[in-house]
Amino acid sequence: MSSFWQKIRSDFPITKRTVYLDHASAGPVPRPVAEAYQRYAQTHLERADASWPEWVVQREQVRRQAAAFINAKPEEIAFTTSTSHGMNLIAELLAGEGKVLTNTAEFPSTTLPWLWRKADLVWQKDEDGRVLLEGLKKKLTPGVRTVAASWVQYASGYRQDLETLGRLKKGRYLVVNATQGLGALQADVEKWQADFLCTNSYKWLMAGYGCGLLYVREKWLKKFKPQGAGWRSMQHPERMDNRKLDLRSDAGRYEWGCPGFPVIFALGAALKYLKDIGMERIEKRVLELSAFAQERLSAAGFEVISAPEARSAITVFRYPNAQRAAKKLLARGIYVSARGPGLRVAPHFYNTFEEIDVFIQKLLGFQRARE
Ligand SMILES: Cc1ncc(COP(=O)(O)O)c(C=O)c1O
Repeated sequence: MSSFWQKIRSDFPITKRTVYLDHASAGPVPRPVAEAYQRYAQTHLERADASWPEWVVQREQVRRQAAAFINAKPEEIAFTTSTSHGMNLIAELLAGEGKVLTNTAEFPSTTLPWLWRKADLVWQKDEDGRVLLEGLKKKLTPGVRTVAASWVQYASGYRQDLETLGRLKKGRYLVVNATQGLGALQADVEKWQADFLCTNSYKWLMAGYGCGLLYVREKWLKKFKPQGAGWRSMQHPERMDNRKLDLRSDAGRYEWGCPGFPVIFALGAALKYLKDIGMERIEKRVLELSAFAQERLSAAGFEVISAPEARSAITVFRYPNAQRAAKKLLARGIYVSARGPGLRVAPHFYNTFEEIDVFIQKLLGFQRARE
């Protein structure tokens, strides 16, 4: 392991006790993010609301960081509490616009908000977790107005080619659930021609629970009215005018009450941390780790269902009684998840090739013990 990654690894004390390969469920926070939480708590302890003006300034700084992270404008970013929150805000705007094309592999957060609103859903059938663009093209009828898709599928690791999808969509809305990609892979809403995006903070971004991001392309901010209003979504909240609706024109119009400062600042620290390492470098590293996992699992005789040509940071392979195996691994300090047709292994950049081997050897040990 190079001294660069060795040093990075020291920001993750969890590595001392465990083999943590479960970022697709939730990541640990690196040390600088933990410090951001601590700083906030200390300031609140000592100064309470005297810090409000600085906190508001700091929140706007995080909004700029978040925008830059996905190549958007700060005006296009709203803070939410989760991916599900963001997708509900989006579905409320688009459910009545026409058919919504999605697929059978999606995590429920992508589909339930539309079902709830009785949107006319068109389902593309996945092929062992793969959401092939060939199949998608056939479903893109003129009646389809929205395509709602995950960047990376949670139960197969299939990485959608959003750039091509963006070219195919032709005047339709592209809604991206970025949860399983953001923080591991390089994001670019301009390149993708994405119209809306939502994500949370606790997986690959490693900022802990409670924050999320909503991206709304500028022109749709103008077209669509948000489904609610609150004092903080007005242009001048300090006036506390209870009779006049004077909505903010930017994505802040989706933030109705006081902000969740601690989680927003944690997200800011996480974004800085990732940016300082460099997303290009991170993407290269996670793809190397997952290529290694796929190769070693196959060599050990497991059937990997993750598509090498659409690789992400997630690898899934068939394993009978995966729940039981995941529990047994957990008891030995190895974190993976039972998902899809088997086990899901999801290393981040600070993990090592050796850790992946430790995990596979442990699994082979279980099998030998059964024989
Ligand atoms: C693709 C995807 N979207 C959304 C979620 C859940 O997000 P949240 O809890 O923030 O709504 C998950 C969790 O596994 C996921 O994999």
